[in-house]
Amino acid sequence: MTRILLPEHGGPDDGPPAAWDFSTNASPLGPPPALMRAVQAADRQAYPDPRYRALRQHLGEEDLVLPTAGGAEGIRRLTLAAMLAGHREVWVPQPGFGDYAAAASALGLAVRPYAAPADIRPTAPALVWICEPCNPTGESEAAWPELGGHLVAVDRAYEALRLRGEPPALPPGAWQLLCPNKALGLTGIRAGWLLAPRRDEVWARALMLAPSWVLSAEGVAMLTHWPSDATQAWLADARHQLRGWTARQRKLLAGLGWQQRETCTHFWLARPPRADMARRLRQRGIRVRDAASFGLTGWVRVSAQPPAAQQALQQALLDIESEDA
Ligand SMILES: Cc1ncc(COP(=O)(O)O)c(C=O)c1O
Repeated sequence: MTRILLPEHGGPDDGPPAAWDFSTNASPLGPPPALMRAVQAADRQAYPDPRYRALRQHLGEEDLVLPTAGGAEGIRRLTLAAMLAGHREVWVPQPGFGDYAAAASALGLAVRPYAAPADIRPTAPALVWICEPCNPTGESEAAWPELGGHLVAVDRAYEALRLRGEPPALPPGAWQLLCPNKALGLTGIRAGWLLAPRRDEVWARALMLAPSWVLSAEGVAMLTHWPSDATQAWLADARHQLRGWTARQRKLLAGLGWQQRETCTHFWLARPPRADMARRLRQRGIRVRDAASFGLTGWVRVSAQPPAAQQALQQALLDIESEDA
C-alpha cells in the first residue's frame, strides 16, 4: 500500500487547549478591528459569486487571480494542475512546510528536497516550491536562480510578517501563493489565492480544478479588506510590536542556554539545552512545535508571543531546570 504521509502542524492539536501557544506561526496580534467587523458582517445566507469576479479584480488581474480555500488548498491544487500539465518532479525546501511533499506524494510524484537554491537541479519537467520567507526557518535567500523551463511557485504566506530586510527578486514567470490569514491572526478563515503568471495549461487546470464556491463569505470579506490602507497600516504597527517581542524572547531563551537560528520573521528554530522539551512544556500547558518532522530532532520552532506568555515560558523552563537538578 502507498506510504501515508500526513503533514504535522503547529497550533491546536488533539490535546486540551494550550494556555500558551508558541507553536503557531499566526500573528498573536490579529485581527485588525475594521477587517474583523467586515468578516462578522459577511452574508452567510447566500452563496458568494461563484466566479468571485469583484474580489479577483480587486486583488489583481482578474483572470490570473485564482481564489483558494487557504494556502494549503492552493498547494494541493497547483500540484495536481502541474501533474496534469506533465510535471513529474516536485522540488521542496528542506526543512520546509510539509504540505508540498505531502501533495506530491499523494499524486505519486517524485519528491526532491533541497537545502539551498544551488541544490535545485531538475532532471524532468519540475514543479519547484520556494517559500519566502521560509517556514520553519524564518530565513530568506538573497537571490533565487531563474529555473527557466520549470514551474516555479513562490509561497509568500509570511511575506507580511517579514520583520527585517527586503524580499529577494522572484524568478521570472513564477506563480505566487498568497494566504494572509496568518499575518491577520485569522487562521480559522480558510482563504487565499494563487496568482498565475500567464494563461497557460497549468493555469487552465488550476482554474477548472477549483470546487464551486471554494471561498466562504468570511473568506471573501477577509481578502477584500486585505489590501486596504487601514489593514496595511495596522500590519506595519503589528510588525513593529513583533520586532520587540522577538528580540525580548530571543534574549530570554539565550539566557536559558537555548541555541537559536537567525530569522527575519517572528518565528524561528531553536534547540533547547534538554531533550524532550516539547513534551515537557506541553505537560505544563505550553506548546512549542517539535521540529523532528522537519528532520531536526532536538529542535523546536517557536513564535514570538506577548510578555505574559514569555513569562509563563520562562517560569516553566526554570521549573524543568530545577526538577532535573
Ligand atoms: C508556508 C506555508 N504555506 C501555506 C500554509 C497554509 O496556510 P493556510 O492554508 O492556512 O492559508 C502554511 C500554514 O502554516 C504555511 O506555513
